[in-house]
Amino acid sequence: MVVEILDAKSQKPLATLTSVTPASTILDVKKEYRKIKTSLYPERQSYRLEPRGRSLKDEDTLSSLGLGAKGVLYFKDLGPQVGWTTVFLTEYAGPLLIYPIFYIRPSCIYGAGATSEPYAKAVHIALACWTFHYAKRLLETVFVHRFSHATMPIMNIFKNSLYYWGFTAFVSYFINHPLYTPPAYGNVQLYGGLALFVVAELGNLSIHIALKNLRPPGTKLRRILNPTSNPLTCLASLVSCPNYTYEALAWIGFSVLSQSLPAALFTAAGFYQMSIWALGKLRNYRREFKEYPRSRKAILPFIL
Ligand SMILES: NC(=O)c1ccc[n+]([C@@H]2O[C@H](COP(=O)([O-])OP(=O)(O)OC[C@H]3O[C@@H](n4cnc5c(N)ncnc54)[C@H](OP(=O)(O)O)[C@@H]3O)[C@@H](O)[C@H]2O)c1
Repeated sequence: MVVEILDAKSQKPLATLTSVTPASTILDVKKEYRKIKTSLYPERQSYRLEPRGRSLKDEDTLSSLGLGAKGVLYFKDLGPQVGWTTVFLTEYAGPLLIYPIFYIRPSCIYGAGATSEPYAKAVHIALACWTFHYAKRLLETVFVHRFSHATMPIMNIFKNSLYYWGFTAFVSYFINHPLYTPPAYGNVQLYGGLALFVVAELGNLSIHIALKNLRPPGTKLRRILNPTSNPLTCLASLVSCPNYTYEALAWIGFSVLSQSLPAALFTAAGFYQMSIWALGKLRNYRREFKEYPRSRKAILPFIL
C-alpha cells in the first residue's frame, strides 16, 4: 500500500511511503518517515487522519484506521523532545533546594540579624511539609508513575521550572520572613491545616498507586479508575482526577497552617491548571469508554 504524508498545517505533501502494509502501525510509519527525515525521531512525530484531528496512537494499525490502498496521514512536528523523568526531576529539585535557602534567612535577602529573630512553630512545619511534598513527588516520578509518553516538548522544562521555582521563592520568602505573622487561631489552625495536608498527601499517593496498578508494566493501557480496598481511593467514584483533588486539598491545608497569602495564590493557580487538565481528561474518558460513569465530575465532587 501507499501512504502519503501531508503537513497538517499547510497540507503540502511531505513524503510518500511505499514500504508500509495494512498491518503496519503508526510507530512503523514514524520509523519509515525518519529514514527520509533523519532529524525527526519517532517521539517528535504526530499523525492524524484529519489536519486538526486527534493524534493517533503508536499501536494503531493502518488497516484499523480504515486506510485503503492509498491512504493519507497528516503530520505534525512536536518539536525537540526531552525525557519526562528529566523534566519532572528538574522542576521538583528546584522547590527542594530553593525553599530552605529562605528558611536559613540569609542576610543578603532579609538583612543582618534576621537569623536571631525567633522562628514560629508554623515556619518549621511549613518547611517540613514543603520538603515532604516535593520529595514524595520526586520519588513517585521514579518509583510509582508509569507514563505512557517517554518524552515531552523541551520547552516544558523551562515553563514548568519557572512556575515551580518561582512560586517556591515567592511562598518561601514570605513564610520565612522575620516579620512573619503566625496563625491567628494558634494550634487549632496549625494542626487542623497539618492534618488536612497529611490526609490529602496520603490520598494523593493512594490514587497514584491505584493508577499505577491500572497499567501493566511496559504497556500504555488506560482503564477506568475505580475505588480499591484503600478507603482513600473512594473519591475515585466521584471525580475523574482524584489525585488532583487531593493535591488541591493538600495545598489548602498548607495555606491554612501557614496562614500565607502567597501559599493561597499558589493553591489557586494549581487548582486552576489542574481543573483545565481534569476537564480535558474527563472528556477523553467519556469519548474512550462508553461505560464511563455519567455522574462522575472532573475534580470537584458534584460541582466541576
Ligand atoms: N500543583 C500543581 O499545579 C500540579 C499540577 C499537575 C500535577 N500535579 C501533581 O503531580 C501529580 C502527577 O500529575 P499528572 O498530571 O502526571 O497526573 P495524571 O495525568 O493523573 O497521571 C498520573 C500517572 O497515572 C497514569 N494514568 C493516568 N490515567 C490513567 C489511566 N486511566 N489508566 C492508566 N494510567 C493512567 C499517567 O500516565 P500517562 O502518562 O498516560 O498520563 C501517569 O503515569 C498529580 O497527581 C499532582 O499530585 C500538581
